[in-house]
Amino acid sequence: MAGAEKRKGGNPGVATLEKETPPRVKVKLIPIFVMGKRYMVPEGLTIMKAMEYAGYKFIRGCGCRGGVCGACGTVYRKPGDYKIYTGLACQTVIEPDMYLTQMPFYPANRASFNLENLTSAPEEINKLYPELFRCVACNACTKVCPMNIEVMDTVSYLKQGNIAKAVELSFDCIQCGLCASRCFAEMPQYHIFQLARRIYGAKISPRSKHLIEADETIESGKYEEPLRKLMSADEKELRKLYQERETEPLETGDDWQPKKTEYLSIS
Ligand code: SF4
Ligand code: SF4
Ligand code: FES
Repeated sequence: MAGAEKRKGGNPGVATLEKETPPRVKVKLIPIFVMGKRYMVPEGLTIMKAMEYAGYKFIRGCGCRGGVCGACGTVYRKPGDYKIYTGLACQTVIEPDMYLTQMPFYPANRASFNLENLTSAPEEINKLYPELFRCVACNACTKVCPMNIEVMDTVSYLKQGNIAKAVELSFDCIQCGLCASRCFAEMPQYHIFQLARRIYGAKISPRSKHLIEADETIESGKYEEPLRKLMSADEKELRKLYQERETEPLETGDDWQPKKTEYLSIS
C-alpha cells in the first residue's frame, strides 16, 4: 500500500489515518530547451508534460491531451540535425537537448461561405480558395503532418476536382495547422480540406436510408407526445422509467428491437 493511507491502531472505535511516504523513484533528468531556455526534466515525458514540469501552465495550446484536437502543434530541432521536426506536444516524447517551441495557432484565412448555397461542383472550392493552384508540389506539408496525411496529394486531388478522394485522404486531419506553417503557396490546407469534407457530406455522399426514415418520423410528429410526457415527468418518475427501460441483451442479433417502439422511427 505504498503511497496510500493506512489505518493506525489506538482507540478501536476511532481509527486515525496515517499517510505513508511515497516510495522514492530515481528519475533521470534530461535537458530540453523551451523557447530558448534550458530546463532539466524527467526523461520519458511527453513535451506537454515536460513543459508543465518546467513550470508552464497551458491556457491555450492544450485540449484533449489525446492526439485528436490539434491544439498542441510543436516545432523542434535536434542537436546536429539540419531537419525541422514537428509533432503534437501531448504525444511526442522529449529527447535530450531538443529545442522546441509550441505553435498552438497558425494564422490561416478561412473563407466565408454558406454551405446551403454551395453546389457539389469542385469549382466551388476553387472559387473560395484560389490559392489551391499556387501549390508548387514541394511536399513540405506532407512531411510535417503529425497525422501522416498525404497533404500534398490531397491538394492535388482537389485541383483535379476529385473531392471524394481528397475527403478520404484528409479524413484524419485534426486542424493543427502545421501544414499551413510550411506551405510555399501560403495556403490554409486544413480549412480547404474541411470545406471539401463539408461539401462531400452535405451534397455528394449517399444519404442513409435510415436517416431519411428518422427525419420523416420526426416530421410526422410521432415523438411529440412521448417527449411531452418525458418533459413533464418529475425526477422520481424519470428514474423509474430509466431503471425499468428495456435494454439490449448482451448476445443478440442485429435485428433486435425493444418491445416498446414508441421512440423508434419504425413501429
Ligand atoms: S493536414 Fe495539416 S492541419 Fe491536418 S493534421 Fe496534417 S498538418 Fe495538421
Ligand atoms: S507545402 Fe504547400 S506548396 Fe508545398 S506541396 Fe504542400 S500545399 Fe503544395
Ligand atoms: S492536446 Fe489535443 S492533440 Fe494534443
